[in-house]
Amino acid sequence: GAPEQPVAEPHDDPARFRLESELAAAYPTDAPPATATREFELHAAPGTTQLFDGRLVDVWAYNGQVPGPVLRVRLGEEVLVRLQSDLPQPTTIHWHGVRVPNAMDGVPGVTQDPIPPGGSFTYRFVPKDAGTFWFHPHVRGAEQVERGLYGVLIVDDAETLPYSRDEVWVLDDWRLSSDGQVDPRFVTRHDLAHDGRWGQMVTVNGDAAQQLTVRPGERIRLRLVNTSNGRVYRPDFGSLEPRVIAVDGMYTARPLPLDGFELAPGNRLDLDIVIPADGSGRSYAITDRFTRRPFTLATIRADGDPVFTPTFEAPSNPNVPGWDGAGERPVDVTYVLNARRGGEHGIQWTINGRPWGEHEVTELEGGRWVRVRFQNDSARLHPMHIHGQFFKVIARNGQPVDAPYFRDTVLLRGRETIDVGMVPIDWGRWMMHCHILEHAESGMMTEVRVG
Ligand code: C2O
Ligand code: CU
Repeated sequence: GAPEQPVAEPHDDPARFRLESELAAAYPTDAPPATATREFELHAAPGTTQLFDGRLVDVWAYNGQVPGPVLRVRLGEEVLVRLQSDLPQPTTIHWHGVRVPNAMDGVPGVTQDPIPPGGSFTYRFVPKDAGTFWFHPHVRGAEQVERGLYGVLIVDDAETLPYSRDEVWVLDDWRLSSDGQVDPRFVTRHDLAHDGRWGQMVTVNGDAAQQLTVRPGERIRLRLVNTSNGRVYRPDFGSLEPRVIAVDGMYTARPLPLDGFELAPGNRLDLDIVIPADGSGRSYAITDRFTRRPFTLATIRADGDPVFTPTFEAPSNPNVPGWDGAGERPVDVTYVLNARRGGEHGIQWTINGRPWGEHEVTELEGGRWVRVRFQNDSARLHPMHIHGQFFKVIARNGQPVDAPYFRDTVLLRGRETIDVGMVPIDWGRWMMHCHILEHAESGMMTEVRVG
């Protein structure tokens, strides 16, 4: 059915009204009517897995695997997930980037009670958007995600796209102790004084030497998901020259070159890659270039006889609003990001001087365009994430920016100011926090109420 328009009272600011109406076509207010229900069982429990060089590592995992299972549904299907927890701590599942009904958002003490050890909970929702999403606990995330609790949710378009294959690469970063086990010191003072927990081992789908073998001439869709606690990636595909077709799950207005795109914790990038037809026997190293020490993330190897490359237009969302002139609109809400001494970890990360618990709730009117400013007064990185909403970057350090795509998480560098525009159309109580999980754990979280 036709999606409903956002409900906005007519008001006397024509410029703002125009920005609101431009969102209306970009993504729907409501989910499509569900045609079927897809049921999944997730069992969260301690276990062991073979990672890296073949050694066994103690993890906490969904269904005994790290990364957890890829849950795949089609747009128009209802997702029903029965979570049984046998973790030694309370837990929840948050559906990162999915515009779920608020009660399904998985935030303890806000949208649900934490699930105790031995307990269970059923999550049930109809996704509103097709795309690449992921799920993870929202209780002691810095520990539970680092130990291995995360998985990917793919919502396929109503109609299948003719890519020759559709692959997921889950990027994670591990800090191991000398015994090869996950270092059990979580939320350390060092991590809080820096950009969270960065480890010494990066894996793609749990493998430190991930190799994807394809046929020459294939045209693939590759979905990158960063589930790391703190590490940021800037993937370089060398001569493969992928095009970005989706950011944080949502299609871009048009395919974009990958150059300069980064994956901060929480971010996703969907890539459209054509493997050269004459490339048989070639290996393409995918390199991370975020830090000064580049390293190989994974390899794509072309093997066998060339296959026919299908020609089709990459998926896109031509209705991503331009929001021309938004860069000149006044700022409605400012969030100043900084740290202070105190709290159980010695350092607390704060939003407007307050850690979670002392935070002030931001009330936003559903259907009203707002300009939100993130002002980083610290020297550290902060990927800021808002639950249940998508936004567009409109200015960086005061300079208007034209970013033809939505995001749910935006990376701020030290001392940087980023302004985003958004029209909240999903009602409820939503967390807004830094996705460096140590920063979030030490207070860098607040609540936005859309009513
Ligand atoms: Cu993936 Cu509250 O976040
Ligand atoms: Cu942060």
